[in-house]
This record gives sequence, structure tokens and C-alpha cells, in this order.
Amino acid sequence: MDDTTAQFNSAHRADPQEISLRPPTLQQYVGQVEIKSNLQVFIEAARNRGQPLDHVLLSGPPGLGKTTLAYILSREMGVGIQSTSGPVMERQGDLAAVLTNLNPGEILFIDEIHRMNRSVEEVLYSAMEDFKLDIVVGQGPMARTVKIDLPAFTLVGATTRTGLLSSPLRERFGIPLRLGYYSPGELQQIVLRSADILGLDIAAEAALALAERCRGTPRVANRLLRRIRDFAEQEGRGPITKAIVVSSLERLGVDSGGLEGFHLEILRTIIHQFSGGPVGLSTLTAALSEPRDTLEEVYEPFLIQQGYLHKTPRGRVATPKAFAHLGVTQPEGTQLGLLAE
Ligand SMILES: Nc1ncnc2c1ncn2[C@@H]1O[C@H](COP(=O)(O)OP(=O)(O)OP(=O)(O)O)[C@@H](O)[C@H]1O
Ligand SMILES: [Mg+2]
Repeated sequence: MDDTTAQFNSAHRADPQEISLRPPTLQQYVGQVEIKSNLQVFIEAARNRGQPLDHVLLSGPPGLGKTTLAYILSREMGVGIQSTSGPVMERQGDLAAVLTNLNPGEILFIDEIHRMNRSVEEVLYSAMEDFKLDIVVGQGPMARTVKIDLPAFTLVGATTRTGLLSSPLRERFGIPLRLGYYSPGELQQIVLRSADILGLDIAAEAALALAERCRGTPRVANRLLRRIRDFAEQEGRGPITKAIVVSSLERLGVDSGGLEGFHLEILRTIIHQFSGGPVGLSTLTAALSEPRDTLEEVYEPFLIQQGYLHKTPRGRVATPKAFAHLGVTQPEGTQLGLLAE
């Protein structure tokens, strides 16, 4: 393992409990039904041909199972996986080191691939297309192009923002997959599976109550389940009931819609400081003192998907659902901001 990969792996070493909750096979991976059934076909076809899987792009909001799926692909294909991330590779040489370190057929997982700088990204084009490394070494009159043959490999890229990927890069992925939020039923299965692994006794209706309040996101479900376990242990040894789930979530500040902390603050700010909007993204990020990226990648997608927030050309608008959720009466005429779009 080279330095860049080692650096990334240590920086991103998820807590061991999260790793233990990761489903190891496609069969145990809950939900994303269409993605799974397509992948099953592509994996089998590639294996029958004795070739690596075509390059896979996994996109979708944080915590939906992109990294998990990358590791499942390696296991299902029976090949090794090396992981790194876009921002870690600052120079072309960093990526070249990672590529030349791959064994034939292996998976190279690049997380946050949209954060790779353009000159590094260009090295990927010929690597992905022809398994060739085309790189300039040296500077000025001493500069020359070096071509190196690479073993055939599968690139698995993960991104929370497909929109930020350059089109030459995006087009080189033969298998683009977009992960969506999970349904309460699917999250209930995930909660029951995680509870089983953690040795927790949880009633089905209690698991569903949690599933309905974790924003369609498995990582949130697992995190809240661990906190609920803490509260439940305090209350005694019995099974985790729906009442325990509901009261624990209340204590954790998670409301009936699964909104907590910063999600609520975004809606409150738009409603109270900007009369419901529209408010431009930069004004909003300044008011919230949160980086623009985080707002767009981490928080907005769920608010938009659930209909609390609208993105309009003039800025963000809190919807009537957001006003109702916060128990604020919407001032006369403010809905016009929405209707005008
Ligand atoms: N389909 C699934 N079935 C069961 N558990 C899942 C599933 N998807 C994700 N998880 C659980 O959710 C956790 C978070 O998933 P993962 O780390 O793969 O998300 P991610 O999409 O890579 O997030 P990020 O964008 O933040 O890197 C995992 O540890 C795993 O336990
Ligand atoms: Mg990840």
C-alpha cells in the first residue's frame, strides 16, 4: 500500500462498529432493488467472461451505502480492493502511484471522486479507457511523456454530487448507479439486522418507529439505534419498545419527521430571518455559518426530497409544509415566491 492510500485509509477508518454493521454480500444489502438486480447480471456476465467489471459510478447523498457497495463488489467479484479519495491525490504522480500498485482485476475505489483536481483527473481518462498510464514527467525542456501499461482493473467512484463531475469523466463509467433514500420498510429491515448483530432485542413496531425517523438513511438508523440502546440500558433489561424509541429520539432532538439539529436550523433561518425566502445560497450559508458544500451535499437533498424546501432560480424557499412542521403561520402573500417560479 502506498502512502496516499494509507493516509486515506487511516483518515477514513470508520468506527469498528460501523464496519461490523456493513452487509458483506449483495444479498444482505437491503433495498436498492433495481441496482442490486442489475449488478447481479453485470457481475455474473463479467465473471463468466473472465474480465473485470466495467467501471462503476456510485452517486447519492451521504450514508446511503456507497462505500458498502464498493466493498461488496470486490467480494462478489472475488477480487481485491484498494481505496483512496479524490482530495488526497494532489498531483498526477499520486494517482499514478496508486494505479501502478494495482494487481490485475482489482478494484480501485475512489471516494469523493468529484473533489479530484482536473489535472489528476486527466490521468484517469486513458487509464479507464485503455488501461494505459499517460503521464508527463519532468519540467520545461526536460519534460517528456511516459506511457505505462496498467493491469485491467475496475474503477469504482463514489460521489455525493454527480453534477460536479466533469462530463469526460462521467462518460467513462459504463455502470452509473444512483442510490436513493430508503423506504421505512427497508430501514426497518436494516434496524432489525443491526439490532441482531448488536445483540439487541427490539420489537418490530419499535424498529419501524425508528425507521420512520431516520431520514431514509441507513447510517442515521444505525447511529440512532446505538443511542437508543444506551437509553434502553439505563431503563432496564427488557426489550426495546416503541415507547423507548420515541422517548429516546425526543431526548436526542429528533422530531417526528426525522429532522434534527441543523436541518431544523436551516428551515428556521429561512422562515424567521428571510420570511420564508427566496434566499440566495450564499446569503443563507453566511447566515448559518456553514460551508456551501455541506449545505448542498449533506442537508438540502433530504429537505428537498421531503418537500420542506424548494430550490428556485432566485434562491431557497421554505414550503408550506416547512411552515406547518415548525408550527409557524405563513404570512400572507409569501407563497407567491413559490408560485411565481
Ligand atoms: N443497503 C444497506 N443495507 C444495510 N445496511 C446498510 C446499507 N447501506 C448502508 N448501510 C449501513 O449504513 C452505513 C453507512 O453506509 P456507507 O458508509 O456505505 O455510506 P456512504 O454512502 O459511503 O456514505 P458517505 O457518502 O458518507 O461516504 C454502513 O456502515 C452500513 O452499515
Ligand atoms: Mg462512503
